[in-house]
Amino acid sequence: MTARILDGKKAAQTLRAEAAAHAARLKEQGITPSLVVVLAGDNPASAVYVRNKATAAGEAGIAARTLRFDASLSETELLGTIHELNADDTVDAILVQLPLPAHISTQRVLEAVVPAKDVDGFHPLNAGKLLQGQRGPVPCTPAGIMDLLRLEGIDPKGMRATVIGRSDIVGKPMALLLMHAHATVTIAHSRTRDLAGVCREADLLVAALGKPGLVTADFVQPGAIVIDVGINRVDSRAEVERLFGHDEKRLTEFDRKGSVLAGDCEWASVVSVASAVTPVPGGVGPLTIARLLKNTVELAESRRLSILS
Ligand code: GUN
Repeated sequence: MTARILDGKKAAQTLRAEAAAHAARLKEQGITPSLVVVLAGDNPASAVYVRNKATAAGEAGIAARTLRFDASLSETELLGTIHELNADDTVDAILVQLPLPAHISTQRVLEAVVPAKDVDGFHPLNAGKLLQGQRGPVPCTPAGIMDLLRLEGIDPKGMRATVIGRSDIVGKPMALLLMHAHATVTIAHSRTRDLAGVCREADLLVAALGKPGLVTADFVQPGAIVIDVGINRVDSRAEVERLFGHDEKRLTEFDRKGSVLAGDCEWASVVSVASAVTPVPGGVGPLTIARLLKNTVELAESRRLSILS
C-alpha cells in the first residue's frame, strides 16, 4: 500500500480563504482584525515562523505587527509590553513566540496575556476552557489538524487515536480535541513502555515528539492515518537516506543546502504501511499558520462585538 498524501497546503488555502472572507465581513462593520507577534531573542527557526505568520496575516486582511526584542530583554520589560498590548483597544490578538530566552519565565509571560487576546490559547483559563469543552481560542497546531481531518472527510469518532508527545502546545490539546471528537485517546511519550506496540494499536496516530524518523513502520497499524507534527532539521546524508530512501529530490536538496527538513516519521517506510499521511514540509506547518489567522479573526469578532453590545 502507498498512503494517500494529506495535503496540508491545500487545506490551509481553504482555511486562509475562510479567514480572509471573515476578516472582510468584519471590515464592513468597521473592524480591522489586528495581530501583534512578539519575538524575543535570535532563535533562527522562530524568526522564520514569525515572518511567515505576519505575511500570511497581511494576506488575509489582518493588520499584523511584529515586535522584535533582542535576547537581553528583561522579563519585566516583556511583561510591560504585554500589559500595554492588553490595554490597547486596537489590538485583538497577541502571540508570544516560543521558546523565550531562558532567563524569562514562559509561564509568567503566557499568564500575563489577557485571555480575550490569547490567540494561541496558551493561557491557563483558555486551557481550562478546552478541557471542559467550552468555546475559546484553541492552540493553532492541534486545531489546524482537526481542520485538516474535517476537510479530508476523516471523522475520529470511535477511532483509537494515539498522540505521541505531551506538550502543552500540541500533545495535550490534541488529545483533548480528539477526545471531544469521540475518539478513544491514548497519550504516549518518551517514557512509554513498548512505544511501538502502543502506537500500533492506533487507527489515527499523531506524532509530536520532535525526534526525526522516530516513528518507523512498526509503529503503524496497516491502514492507519498518520499525522506528523515534527519539523526537524536533518544534517546527515545517511539519516536523509534512512528517512526518505533514495528520494532524488531530497538528496539533491541536501547536497545543495547541507540539511533538509524531516518529520517525526520515517517517511519511506511509514508511507508504505499507512493509508494516509501528512508530509513534512507541506503538512501540519501550513495548517498552524492558517489556524492562527482564523483564531485572530474570531477573537476580533468576539471581543469587539462584546464591547459594542
Ligand atoms: N513555538 C512553536 N510553536 C508555537 C506556537 O504554536 N505558538 C507560539 N507562540 N510559539 C510556538
